[in-house]
Amino acid sequence: LQSTRKLNDGNEIPALGFGVYQSEPGDETEQAVLLALEAGYRHIDTASCYYNEESVGAALKKCNIPRSQIWITTKLWDTDHGYDKAKEACYESLRKLGLDYVDLYLIHSPCTGKQLRSESWKALEDLQKEGKVRSIGVSNYGVHHMKEVFEVGSIKPAINQIEVTPYQVREELCRFCQENGVLIEAFSPLTMGLKLKEPRLNKIAQKYGKQPAQILIRWSLQRGLIPLPKSVNKQRITDNSNVFDFEISAEDMEALTKMDEYLVTEWDPTKLP
Ligand code: A2P
Repeated sequence: LQSTRKLNDGNEIPALGFGVYQSEPGDETEQAVLLALEAGYRHIDTASCYYNEESVGAALKKCNIPRSQIWITTKLWDTDHGYDKAKEACYESLRKLGLDYVDLYLIHSPCTGKQLRSESWKALEDLQKEGKVRSIGVSNYGVHHMKEVFEVGSIKPAINQIEVTPYQVREELCRFCQENGVLIEAFSPLTMGLKLKEPRLNKIAQKYGKQPAQILIRWSLQRGLIPLPKSVNKQRITDNSNVFDFEISAEDMEALTKMDEYLVTEWDPTKLP
């Protein structure tokens, strides 16, 4: 559970994260984060548009784990794009989280258009220089958005967070990021629960004596991704972390990767101009 990956800025990020997308603000999120930290996760992924940063912050205050041992990611929402607004939004997220810095700050999506997202990127670069954020990156960026940020920025994103599963492999985008030293975080690595009963996945899970969810997380790790499974259930939070005691064979990795059906659980900003 403590394995890490090195980012292009030298920072080390825990290879498995814990997602709180669609965790209710208040007790539900606070408890889920406390359970995750007890289970050994040291990487929490939130966003201002999840409205649960305060609850993540409340859990961090209660957990008795040194701040330096926990990786915290949050994200800049679309309505806060532009240089000044982006900086203000980051300070506001820090206030809600009760933190002096976050480990990773991401532009949540490219939806605002070139001018605004480029200004926001400049703000992220300056926030990093100010020490408010240790690493900076993007989310939901396609290849053309990545090329744009390489061009307008003076710092390369460390991360692109996108939806990747065996049902949505995104071969080209992942290869492009990997070739350019940008690590991929996989949100909704469990397909939001949609495919957990799918027969081919269940057959492979049975073979390894593992749950379908554990196979999806392990596939992600073996692809070099940083999966961010979400759960608010104590047992499932623990189950999702028990993925370091087995290995999927090359043959089964390929079989899983071939299940690609371009599944998009919500919508796909990587296709936007
Ligand atoms: P719950 O929070 O009740 O555990 P994703 O990470 O792809 O967004 O998927 C999250 C969804 O999958 C949630 O509905 C979550 O429900 C469910 N889930 C999380 N872990 C497991 C698991 N190990 N087995 C089955 N369902 C899971």
